[in-house]
Amino acid sequence: MKGTKRSLIKKYFPPEVCLEIEKVTMLNVSNNRKGEKIDAIIRAHGIPADRIGTGTNRIGFAIDGFAVKIALDKDGKIDNKREFKYSKQLYPYVVKVYEVDKVNGLIAVTEYVKSFDESDFSEIKRQSQMREILADISNQFLIGDVGISKNNFGNWGIRTDDDSICMLDFAYIYSISYRTFQCTCDNRTILKYDNDFVNLICERCRKKYTFGAIRKKISKQQQADEIGDISKLGYTLTKPEEEVDLVLELEPALLEKAKKEKKKEVDPRKIEIKKHRNQHRKAGMFRRKK
Ligand SMILES: Nc1ncnc2c1ncn2[C@@H]1O[C@H](COP(=O)(O)OP(=O)(O)O)[C@@H](O)[C@H]1O
Ligand SMILES: [Mg+2]
Ligand SMILES: [Zn+2]
Repeated sequence: MKGTKRSLIKKYFPPEVCLEIEKVTMLNVSNNRKGEKIDAIIRAHGIPADRIGTGTNRIGFAIDGFAVKIALDKDGKIDNKREFKYSKQLYPYVVKVYEVDKVNGLIAVTEYVKSFDESDFSEIKRQSQMREILADISNQFLIGDVGISKNNFGNWGIRTDDDSICMLDFAYIYSISYRTFQCTCDNRTILKYDNDFVNLICERCRKKYTFGAIRKKISKQQQADEIGDISKLGYTLTKPEEEVDLVLELEPALLEKAKKEKKKEVDPRKIEIKKHRNQHRKAGMFRRKK
Protein backbone atom coordinates (compact mmCIF):
# COMPACT_ATOMS: atom_id res chain seq x y z
CA MET A 1 0.00 0.00 0.00
CA LYS A 2 1.22 3.48 -0.89
CA GLY A 3 0.86 6.71 1.05
CA THR A 4 2.07 10.28 0.89
CA LYS A 5 4.45 11.44 3.59
CA ARG A 6 5.70 14.94 4.28
CA SER A 7 9.03 16.10 5.62
CA LEU A 8 9.28 19.49 7.27
CA ILE A 9 13.05 19.10 7.39
CA LYS A 10 13.28 18.58 3.64
CA LYS A 11 10.83 21.41 3.05
CA TYR A 12 12.77 24.08 4.95
CA PHE A 13 16.28 22.78 5.46
CA PRO A 14 18.05 22.00 2.17
CA PRO A 15 21.49 20.35 2.44
CA GLU A 16 23.40 23.63 2.14
CA VAL A 17 21.50 25.14 5.10
CA CYS A 18 22.09 21.97 7.16
CA LEU A 19 25.77 22.22 6.36
CA GLU A 20 25.92 25.84 7.51
CA ILE A 21 24.19 24.91 10.77
CA GLU A 22 26.38 21.85 11.18
CA LYS A 23 29.47 24.05 10.98
CA VAL A 24 28.10 26.28 13.76
CA THR A 25 27.63 23.26 16.04
CA MET A 26 31.35 22.55 15.76
CA LEU A 27 32.55 26.04 16.68
CA ASN A 28 34.44 26.60 19.88
CA VAL A 29 32.02 29.20 21.29
CA SER A 30 29.24 29.13 23.91
CA ASN A 31 25.93 27.49 23.05
CA ASN A 32 24.19 30.84 23.43
CA ARG A 33 26.45 32.29 20.79
CA LYS A 34 25.81 29.29 18.52
CA GLY A 35 22.08 29.88 18.97
CA GLU A 36 22.49 33.46 17.76
CA LYS A 37 24.38 32.27 14.71
CA ILE A 38 21.81 29.59 13.85
CA ASP A 39 19.03 32.13 14.27
CA ALA A 40 20.84 34.42 11.82
CA ILE A 41 21.26 31.59 9.27
CA ILE A 42 17.56 30.77 9.50
CA ARG A 43 16.58 34.40 8.96
CA ALA A 44 19.04 34.83 6.09
CA HIS A 45 17.37 31.92 4.28
CA GLY A 46 13.89 33.26 4.92
CA ILE A 47 12.74 30.17 6.83
CA PRO A 48 9.43 31.11 8.51
CA ALA A 49 10.60 30.24 12.02
CA ASP A 50 9.84 31.93 15.34
CA ARG A 51 12.47 31.42 17.96
CA ILE A 52 11.02 29.78 21.09
CA GLY A 53 13.99 29.51 23.38
CA THR A 54 17.39 28.03 24.01
CA GLY A 55 17.98 25.06 26.28
CA THR A 56 21.26 23.49 27.31
CA ASN A 57 22.12 21.75 24.06
CA ARG A 58 19.38 22.73 21.63
CA ILE A 59 17.56 25.78 20.33
CA GLY A 60 13.81 25.63 19.66
CA PHE A 61 11.86 27.27 16.83
CA ALA A 62 8.19 27.22 15.91
CA ILE A 63 7.66 26.41 12.23
CA ASP A 64 4.25 25.69 10.64
CA GLY A 65 2.79 24.95 14.07
CA PHE A 66 5.50 22.44 15.01
CA ALA A 67 8.38 22.78 17.45
CA VAL A 68 11.71 22.29 15.69
CA LYS A 69 14.75 21.60 17.83
CA ILE A 70 18.18 22.22 16.40
CA ALA A 71 21.24 20.77 18.11
CA LEU A 72 23.92 23.18 19.29
CA ASP A 73 26.54 20.50 19.97
CA LYS A 74 27.18 16.73 20.01
CA ASP A 75 24.97 16.17 23.04
CA GLY A 76 22.09 18.01 21.38
CA LYS A 77 22.33 15.62 18.43
CA ILE A 78 22.26 12.59 20.70
CA ASP A 79 19.29 14.13 22.54
CA ASN A 80 17.29 14.57 19.33
CA LYS A 81 17.82 10.94 18.39
CA ARG A 82 17.10 9.70 21.89
CA GLU A 83 13.77 11.52 22.01
CA PHE A 84 12.84 10.24 18.56
CA LYS A 85 13.59 6.68 19.65
CA TYR A 86 11.58 6.83 22.87
CA SER A 87 8.70 9.16 22.00
CA LYS A 88 6.45 6.43 20.55
CA GLN A 89 6.63 4.35 23.72
CA LEU A 90 6.13 7.30 26.02
CA TYR A 91 3.45 9.27 24.17
CA PRO A 92 1.18 10.92 25.46
CA TYR A 93 3.47 11.55 28.44
CA VAL A 94 5.95 13.20 26.11
CA VAL A 95 5.56 15.25 22.94
CA LYS A 96 5.24 13.39 19.66
CA VAL A 97 8.49 13.43 17.73
CA TYR A 98 7.54 13.31 14.07
CA GLU A 99 10.85 13.47 12.36
CA VAL A 100 14.55 13.59 13.01
CA ASP A 101 17.52 13.99 10.79
CA LYS A 102 18.41 10.33 11.21
CA VAL A 103 22.01 10.47 10.13
CA ASN A 104 23.23 12.86 12.78
CA GLY A 105 20.30 14.18 14.80
CA LEU A 106 20.89 17.82 13.88
CA ILE A 107 17.18 18.67 13.54
CA ALA A 108 14.06 17.22 15.15
CA VAL A 109 10.42 18.07 14.47
CA THR A 110 8.00 17.64 17.37
CA GLU A 111 4.50 18.43 18.50
CA TYR A 112 4.23 22.04 19.68
CA VAL A 113 3.07 22.62 23.25
CA LYS A 114 2.92 25.66 25.51
CA SER A 115 5.81 25.33 27.92
CA PHE A 116 5.12 25.63 31.65
CA ASP A 117 5.71 28.96 33.28
CA GLU A 118 6.17 29.51 36.97
CA SER A 119 2.45 29.95 37.60
CA ASP A 120 1.62 26.64 35.85
CA PHE A 121 4.20 24.93 38.02
CA SER A 122 2.82 26.48 41.21
CA GLU A 123 -0.62 24.92 40.61
CA ILE A 124 -1.23 21.87 42.75
CA LYS A 125 -3.18 20.28 39.91
CA ARG A 126 -0.16 20.48 37.60
CA GLN A 127 2.22 19.06 40.19
CA SER A 128 -0.04 16.12 40.83
CA GLN A 129 -0.33 15.49 37.08
CA MET A 130 3.47 15.51 36.87
CA ARG A 131 3.71 13.10 39.79
CA GLU A 132 1.20 10.73 38.22
CA ILE A 133 3.12 10.59 34.96
CA LEU A 134 6.51 10.16 36.62
CA ALA A 135 5.20 7.48 38.97
CA ASP A 136 3.65 5.62 36.06
CA ILE A 137 6.82 5.42 33.99
CA SER A 138 9.42 5.18 36.73
CA ASN A 139 9.44 1.40 36.77
CA GLN A 140 10.46 1.33 33.12
CA PHE A 141 12.41 4.51 32.56
CA LEU A 142 14.53 6.95 34.49
CA ILE A 143 14.22 10.44 33.11
CA GLY A 144 16.34 13.30 34.36
CA ASP A 145 15.57 17.02 34.54
CA VAL A 146 11.81 16.50 34.66
CA GLY A 147 11.32 15.93 38.39
CA ILE A 148 9.05 18.11 40.48
CA SER A 149 11.32 21.06 41.09
CA LYS A 150 11.60 24.74 40.22
CA ASN A 151 14.60 23.95 38.04
CA ASN A 152 12.70 21.64 35.74
CA PHE A 153 9.30 23.08 34.96
CA GLY A 154 10.53 24.49 31.64
CA ASN A 155 10.86 20.92 30.41
CA TRP A 156 7.10 20.39 30.73
CA GLY A 157 4.35 21.72 28.49
CA ILE A 158 0.59 21.92 28.11
CA ARG A 159 -1.38 20.78 25.07
CA THR A 160 -3.71 23.66 24.35
CA ASP A 161 -6.39 21.48 22.75
CA ASP A 162 -7.11 19.19 25.71
CA ASP A 163 -5.18 20.84 28.58
CA SER A 164 -3.15 17.66 29.18
CA ILE A 165 0.49 17.97 30.18
CA CYS A 166 3.59 16.27 28.84
CA MET A 167 7.37 16.46 28.87
CA LEU A 168 8.82 18.48 26.02
CA ASP A 169 12.45 17.81 26.90
CA PHE A 170 13.06 14.19 27.87
CA ALA A 171 16.56 13.72 26.56
CA TYR A 172 17.98 12.36 29.81
CA ILE A 173 16.01 9.21 29.40
CA TYR A 174 17.32 5.80 30.28
CA SER A 175 15.49 2.55 29.80
CA ILE A 176 15.82 0.54 32.97
CA SER A 177 16.01 -2.67 31.03
CA TYR A 178 19.01 -1.31 29.20
CA ARG A 179 20.94 0.14 32.07
CA THR A 180 20.80 0.10 35.84
CA PHE A 181 22.70 2.61 37.88
CA GLN A 182 24.54 1.32 40.90
CA CYS A 183 25.92 3.11 43.91
CA THR A 184 29.66 3.22 44.42
CA CYS A 185 29.24 2.20 48.09
CA ASP A 186 29.07 -1.47 47.15
CA ASN A 187 28.82 -1.38 43.36
CA ARG A 188 25.58 -3.32 43.72
CA THR A 189 22.76 -1.33 45.23
CA ILE A 190 20.58 0.05 42.46
CA LEU A 191 19.78 3.75 42.59
CA LYS A 192 16.15 4.82 42.89
CA TYR A 193 14.32 8.08 42.33
CA ASP A 194 13.72 10.29 45.36
CA ASN A 195 10.11 11.32 46.20
CA ASP A 196 10.03 14.23 43.78
CA PHE A 197 11.78 12.33 40.98
CA VAL A 198 14.61 14.86 41.05
CA ASN A 199 17.73 12.97 42.11
CA LEU A 200 18.69 9.33 42.30
CA ILE A 201 19.31 7.97 45.72
CA CYS A 202 21.02 4.92 47.20
CA GLU A 203 18.75 3.25 49.73
CA ARG A 204 21.73 1.69 51.44
CA CYS A 205 24.02 4.67 52.11
CA ARG A 206 21.54 7.49 51.24
CA LYS A 207 23.98 9.05 48.82
CA LYS A 208 22.32 11.34 46.25
CA TYR A 209 23.23 11.53 42.57
CA THR A 210 22.10 14.16 40.10
CA PHE A 211 21.32 13.05 36.57
CA GLY A 212 24.07 15.33 35.34
CA ALA A 213 26.62 13.44 37.42
CA ILE A 214 25.38 10.11 36.14
CA ARG A 215 25.30 11.19 32.55
CA LYS A 216 28.91 12.31 32.71
CA LYS A 217 29.90 8.74 33.50
CA ILE A 218 28.35 7.39 30.31
CA SER A 219 30.59 7.75 27.30
CA LYS A 220 29.34 9.12 23.99
CA GLN A 221 30.01 5.69 22.50
CA GLN A 222 27.83 3.96 25.11
CA GLN A 223 25.07 6.46 24.42
CA ALA A 224 25.34 5.90 20.69
CA ASP A 225 25.19 2.14 21.23
CA GLU A 226 22.03 2.46 23.27
CA ILE A 227 20.30 4.48 20.58
CA GLY A 228 21.46 2.06 17.89
CA ASP A 229 20.13 2.29 14.36
CA ILE A 230 17.08 4.54 14.29
CA SER A 231 16.75 4.55 10.51
CA LYS A 232 14.10 1.81 10.67
CA LEU A 233 11.99 3.79 13.13
CA GLY A 234 10.55 6.08 10.49
CA TYR A 235 10.42 6.77 6.76
CA THR A 236 13.45 8.36 5.18
CA LEU A 237 12.31 10.95 2.68
CA THR A 238 14.40 12.70 0.09
CA LYS A 239 11.79 15.35 -0.81
CA PRO A 240 9.33 17.56 1.11
CA GLU A 241 6.53 15.31 -0.10
CA GLU A 242 6.94 11.78 -1.31
CA GLU A 243 4.90 8.72 -2.10
CA VAL A 244 6.20 5.75 -0.13
CA ASP A 245 5.38 2.09 0.40
CA LEU A 246 3.70 2.10 3.79
CA VAL A 247 5.35 -0.01 6.47
CA LEU A 248 2.83 -1.62 8.79
CA GLU A 249 4.96 -1.15 11.90
CA LEU A 250 5.08 2.59 11.32
CA GLU A 251 1.33 2.99 10.84
CA PRO A 252 -0.54 2.66 14.15
CA ALA A 253 -3.94 2.98 12.47
CA LEU A 254 -3.20 0.27 9.90
CA LEU A 255 -1.69 -1.95 12.55
CA GLU A 256 -4.83 -1.65 14.64
CA LYS A 257 -6.98 -2.57 11.64
CA ALA A 258 -4.79 -5.54 10.78
CA LYS A 259 -5.02 -6.77 14.36
CA LYS A 260 -8.79 -6.56 14.32
CA GLU A 261 -9.00 -8.44 11.04
CA LYS A 262 -6.73 -11.13 12.37
CA LYS A 263 -8.90 -11.49 15.45
CA LYS A 264 -11.95 -12.00 13.25
CA GLU A 265 -10.13 -14.68 11.31
CA VAL A 266 -9.14 -16.73 14.32
CA ASP A 267 -12.44 -16.46 16.10
CA PRO A 268 -15.22 -17.58 13.75
CA ARG A 269 -17.48 -18.31 16.72
CA LYS A 270 -17.82 -14.64 17.46
CA ILE A 271 -18.92 -14.00 13.91
CA GLU A 272 -21.55 -16.72 14.31
CA ILE A 273 -22.82 -15.16 17.52
CA LYS A 274 -23.01 -11.78 15.85
CA LYS A 275 -24.96 -13.21 12.91
CA HIS A 276 -27.33 -14.83 15.30
CA ARG A 277 -27.86 -11.62 17.24
CA ASN A 278 -28.44 -9.68 14.07
CA GLN A 279 -31.12 -12.10 12.98
CA HIS A 280 -32.86 -11.66 16.31
CA ARG A 281 -32.40 -7.95 16.14
CA LYS A 282 -34.15 -7.88 12.79
CA ALA A 283 -36.90 -9.89 14.33
CA GLY A 284 -37.14 -7.28 17.07
CA MET A 285 -35.86 -9.42 19.92
CA PHE A 286 -33.06 -7.03 20.90
CA ARG A 287 -33.38 -3.32 20.86
CA ARG A 288 -30.34 -1.55 19.49
CA LYS A 289 -28.71 0.69 22.07
CA LYS A 290 -28.47 4.33 21.07
N1 LIG B 1 7.61 20.65 21.90
C1 LIG B 1 7.92 21.90 22.23
N2 LIG B 1 6.98 22.87 22.21
C2 LIG B 1 7.30 24.15 22.55
N3 LIG B 1 8.52 24.54 22.91
C3 LIG B 1 9.51 23.64 22.94
C4 LIG B 1 9.26 22.27 22.60
N4 LIG B 1 10.43 21.59 22.72
C5 LIG B 1 11.34 22.48 23.12
N5 LIG B 1 10.82 23.72 23.26
C6 LIG B 1 11.57 24.91 23.67
O1 LIG B 1 12.81 24.92 22.97
C7 LIG B 1 13.90 25.21 23.83
C8 LIG B 1 14.95 24.10 23.81
O2 LIG B 1 14.38 22.85 24.00
P1 LIG B 1 14.84 21.77 25.07
O3 LIG B 1 14.22 20.49 24.67
O4 LIG B 1 14.53 22.23 26.46
O5 LIG B 1 16.41 21.72 24.84
P2 LIG B 1 17.57 21.26 25.83
O6 LIG B 1 17.54 19.77 25.86
O7 LIG B 1 18.80 21.79 25.22
O8 LIG B 1 17.30 21.85 27.20
C9 LIG B 1 13.29 25.44 25.22
O9 LIG B 1 13.17 26.83 25.41
C10 LIG B 1 11.92 24.82 25.14
O10 LIG B 1 10.99 25.52 25.92
MG1 LIG C 1 15.53 21.82 28.35
ZN1 LIG D 1 25.26 3.65 48.36
